[in-house]
Amino acid sequence: MSKTGIFYSFNTHKTAQVAKKIKELWEGDLDEVNAEKASDEQLMAYDNYLLGVPTWWDGELPNYWDELVPAMEDMDFKGKTFAIFGNGDQKKYGDNFGDAVGIMAKLITQQGGKVIGETDADDYEFEKSRAYADGKFIGLILDFENQANKNNTRIKTWIKQIAKKMV
Ligand SMILES: Cc1cc2nc3c(=O)[nH]c(=O)nc-3n(C[C@H](O)[C@H](O)[C@H](O)COP(=O)(O)O)c2cc1C
Repeated sequence: MSKTGIFYSFNTHKTAQVAKKIKELWEGDLDEVNAEKASDEQLMAYDNYLLGVPTWWDGELPNYWDELVPAMEDMDFKGKTFAIFGNGDQKKYGDNFGDAVGIMAKLITQQGGKVIGETDADDYEFEKSRAYADGKFIGLILDFENQANKNNTRIKTWIKQIAKKMV
């Protein structure tokens, strides 16, 4: 049986809230791993990964993910499947909306991993995003500041879509 892990910072409020909702809806085992303390072994230990990657610093990864990048650049993710979720603020950071999801997806793909979980970008208003191409985001982007009322529906729809590809 394949192993699935959800990696996110346990010290966040909003990302952790999303992760808890995902955990509640997920059917089957889902290991929770604190991205702030993730070892190389933990990063290689799974077949399927859900990564919680909010955007910080005007279009950057938060520090705890940034610190893992050098190690991840040496990892071979061939045969592994990833789905990325992340918070952003489309009004205040419309030129960098959810960029970190795109940055992480690029890194995973470069290292041979498969990224699933594209979502429709129609219902958002922003200028630019590194997570966006051809009407879609490469992962799930949630906006607590402007569209918090859509979070639950977006999470539910996304879980249905990715769970069947992570068996
Ligand atoms: C200093 C700072 C910079 C931010 N930069 C961006 C950004 O470039 N793009 C974006 O979409 N959101 C940006 N945001 C919004 C956050 O992604 C958003 O508040 C998110 O919900 C944070 O999630 P977290 O608290 O779980 O880390 C920024 C927020 C802060 C405080």
